[in-house]
Amino acid sequence: MLNVVCIGSGYVGSVTGAALAAVGHPTTVVDVDERKVALLRQGKSPIYEPGLESLIQALIGKTLFADTSYEPVRTADVVFIAVGTPSKKDGTADLVHIREAAAGIGRHLDPDRFTVIVNKSTVPVGTAGLVASVIERETGLKAERHFTVVSNPEFLREGYALEDVFFPDRIVIGSSHPVGLQRMRELYSPWMQRSGYERFAKHFRFEVDPSRPLPKYFETDCSSSEMIKYAANAFLAVKISYINEIARLCEALGSNVKDVAAGMGMDTRIGDKFLEVSSGWSGSCFPKDTAELLATSEKYGIELSVVRSSVQSNRQMHDYVVQKLRRQLKSMNGRTVGIWGVTFKPNTDDARQTQAAHIVRELLDLGAYVQVHDPQGMAMFREMNPDLPIRYCESAYEAADRADAVILLTHWREYGQLRWEEVAARMNRLYVLDTRNMLDSERLWQYRIQVEGLGNSQ
Ligand code: UGA
Repeated sequence: MLNVVCIGSGYVGSVTGAALAAVGHPTTVVDVDERKVALLRQGKSPIYEPGLESLIQALIGKTLFADTSYEPVRTADVVFIAVGTPSKKDGTADLVHIREAAAGIGRHLDPDRFTVIVNKSTVPVGTAGLVASVIERETGLKAERHFTVVSNPEFLREGYALEDVFFPDRIVIGSSHPVGLQRMRELYSPWMQRSGYERFAKHFRFEVDPSRPLPKYFETDCSSSEMIKYAANAFLAVKISYINEIARLCEALGSNVKDVAAGMGMDTRIGDKFLEVSSGWSGSCFPKDTAELLATSEKYGIELSVVRSSVQSNRQMHDYVVQKLRRQLKSMNGRTVGIWGVTFKPNTDDARQTQAAHIVRELLDLGAYVQVHDPQGMAMFREMNPDLPIRYCESAYEAADRADAVILLTHWREYGQLRWEEVAARMNRLYVLDTRNMLDSERLWQYRIQVEGLGNSQ
C-alpha cells in the first residue's frame, strides 16, 4: 500500500481521498479550511454526495485522515492536487489554488525520497509543467530527479461519484517518468483486478453488471492526458446540445425525440448515453471547461467552431424553454410560475451556473412572479443569486401554489412521485412544462394536469 496525500477536500478531493482509503492506501486529505477538516474528522462529508458520508464514517481514523497542515506530504509516496480551478472572466481557468498547493507541497517535500505528484483537478494543458516549476522554484529540487508530476484526470459525475470512482470506464495516466508510471500502476492495482471489482460492488450494493469489463488503463504523455479531460467534456456537451437541437426540430415536424435518440443510440458508434433532452447542460464542469477550451484555442489562433456553436446552442435551449411557456400562457406579465429543480441535475446540492438562474431571470424580466423549490440546492441557489426577487418554497407543492405554470427543470425522483391531486388543487392553471420528459403525462391527465415535454415526447 502507498502513503497518499490529497490536497483539497472539495468534490474531487474528498471522493478521491475516500476511494483510495477504501482500497487500503493510508490517505490524508489536506485542506486549509478548518471547518472542512473538522467535518471529515467527525466522519462527515464536506459535500453532498450520495453514499460518501457513510464511506467517510467507516474509514476515518483507520485509513482516512484529515489535516490542515501539509506536514503529511513529507512521508507521502503520492500527493494528489485536487483543488478548485474556477473560470476567470476571460474564460481561462484560474490556477491560483493550484499554485498555492504546489508551493505548499514543495515546502514539505522530503528531498531524500522520490515523490509522485498527481494533478487530479481539471487543469489546462501544460499545468503539470507549471506545478513542477513552482516546486522547483520553491525548493531548489529538480523535477524528474526528486519528484515528478503526473496527470490523472477525474471523470466522475456529481451525484454518481462513488459509482464512477469505483467503476470507471477508464483510468488515464499522463507521464513519461518510469517511477511515476510504476507508482500509479501500484496505486490503481485494486481497480484492475476482478476481485477488487466484486468487493466494491458487494460493499456498496451497486447494481453493476458482473460481466462489465474492468476499466481500461491508458497511459500517455502528460499533455495528451490533460487534453483528454477537456476534449471529453466538450464532446459530451456537444452531444447534448445536438440532441436538444434535434428535439426542437422534432417538435416542429411531429417526430418524437425520445424514440429518435433511442434509435440513434443503437448505433454503437454513437452510443445511447448523453442523448437525454433537457433545458440545456450546466453545472460546474461543462460551462467552465468549454470556456477554457475556447479561450485557449483563441490564444493559439485555432477556431473551435463546433464547441463554440454548442455553447450558443445551449443558451438557445434555455431560451427555448421560456419561449415555449410564452406560447402556452401568451402573456407572462403578472403570471405565477413555479420552478421544480434549481440544481443542474438531481442528487446534488450544486446550484452554481445552472440554467434555472438564466430561466428565472428571463421570467422575471417578462413580469412573472417566480417561486422555486429544490430538495437540496435552495441554499446554494440563493447564495449564488442573492438579487433575485423570488419566493423560496419548502415543498414542490408550495411552488405549485396558485401557479399558472410549473417548469420541471431538474429530474429529481421525488418530482415523479408527487400527490398529483394536491398539485392540481393548488395550481391556478394546470400546466406543467417537463423539460426532462420524466412525467407520465397520461397519469397526470387523470388529474386534468396538462404536461408538455420537449421534443414531442409525451
Ligand atoms: C461531467 C462529466 O460527465 C464527468 O465525466 C466529468 O468528470 C465532470 O463533468 C467533471 O468535469 O468533473 P457532471 O458535470 O457532474 O459531470 O454532470 P453530468 O452528469 O455530465 O451532467 C452535465 C450536464 O448535462 C447536466 O446539466 C445534465 O443535466 C446535462 N445532461 C446530461 C443532459 O442534459 N442530457 C444528458 O443526456 C446528460
